[in-house]
Amino acid sequence: MSEADPNAPSRERPAVTRLKLTGFRNYAHLDLALDARPVALFGPNGAGKTNLVEAVSFLGPGRGVRAAGSDAVRRRTPAGPDPVWGVYAEAMTVDGSVSLATGSDPAEPSRRKTKLDGAAATQSALARLFPMLWLTPREDRLWAGSRSDRMRFFDRLVLAGAPDHGAEANAYEKAQRERQRLLDREQDGGRADPSWLDALEAKMAAAGTAMAAARLNALARLQAEIDARPDTAFPKADLALEGVVEARLAEGVSAAEAETGFLEALRKARPRDGAAGRALTGPHRTELTARHREKDQPAADCSTGEQKALVLGLALAQGAAIARARGAAPVLILDEACAHLDVARREGLAEALIDLNAQAWLTGVEAGLFEVFGPSVQRFMVEDGRAGPV
Ligand SMILES: Nc1ncnc2c1ncn2[C@@H]1O[C@H](COP(=O)(O)OP(=O)(O)OP(=O)(O)O)[C@@H](O)[C@H]1O
Ligand SMILES: [Mg+2]
Repeated sequence: MSEADPNAPSRERPAVTRLKLTGFRNYAHLDLALDARPVALFGPNGAGKTNLVEAVSFLGPGRGVRAAGSDAVRRRTPAGPDPVWGVYAEAMTVDGSVSLATGSDPAEPSRRKTKLDGAAATQSALARLFPMLWLTPREDRLWAGSRSDRMRFFDRLVLAGAPDHGAEANAYEKAQRERQRLLDREQDGGRADPSWLDALEAKMAAAGTAMAAARLNALARLQAEIDARPDTAFPKADLALEGVVEARLAEGVSAAEAETGFLEALRKARPRDGAAGRALTGPHRTELTARHREKDQPAADCSTGEQKALVLGLALAQGAAIARARGAAPVLILDEACAHLDVARREGLAEALIDLNAQAWLTGVEAGLFEVFGPSVQRFMVEDGRAGPV
């Protein structure tokens, strides 16, 4: 399944080859040399394994596996917080070797600044060069958890294959926030400039339709990948998106028509959204549903282990779908993925990762969890803010 689309150029897969941390979480300093193989980090609770993969997640777009800001990751010591923090990496990407640096902005330490080969990096450039997927213990509760967490997870899957998805989502959210501010003002008896409202709704309609189209496209590719995969240790999911704009596009209307329809709906909904204090319709309200195919039941009704295996299966299938479309698999961060997996499923994971040919970052409390991976992974022992190869 890891064979790339013959029409897609085969590219160097993204991989970190050197990672340096300064004043990041519980690391004073760290300097690791790596190759492109998957990475297994093991060590006791509280050693710094999740912190290390969080640093790796900072090399991609967004705020990383813990959605943390600059001040949260700055190393705290009994003597006070370190003045600066930084993550520096040398990495192979689809465009060749690059250096990536992110850290506190010297001019404004509460802000984070990211540089690609020494120049300011946009989120879209990071998403294109360094696509990344992650699963953390938080995603174990994905199916039974909140709709917004589920969509955030799905939007990250979409972003890894469609680098502009994040920029569209940001543009949509920004316009939505500004529109709501105007509607709230009207509720309070003030007056909102109708042409300004028109302009914001036009932005929401354009970005929202692009978002919905990217989601549908990603869903179709992902479902096709799942359907084509041989039966593995990971159960197959049947996925669906329930959203107003997605539904119109799925019916086959053109993007232009869907955008116009959404724009009209927004205009009509002004009084209702003003009274509600939020926009009640649009792609920010879309829901992702999943069913466990073999058991024919909603994912949320499955056992903890089954739910975890479903979400792991999704991430692996999306990795394969991206490898097929873009010629290289994304970096995968699988924090504690092995924790509740029996030996057969760990073997299945090892096979899937070898097949995918991705640099996956795996963590676990014991070296024994990674025995099934044999020489296909590079191992590092993590202890008390230090890490070294074993
Ligand atoms: N800003 C910070 N400065 C200093 N230490 C921090 C900071 N943020 C978190 N820590 C500490 O880093 C330590 C390691 O955390 P981390 O989550 O990486 O552990 P872990 O190895 O993943 O453990 P587990 O196996 O329990 O998941 C924790 O003790 C935590 O309190
Ligand atoms: Mg951890």
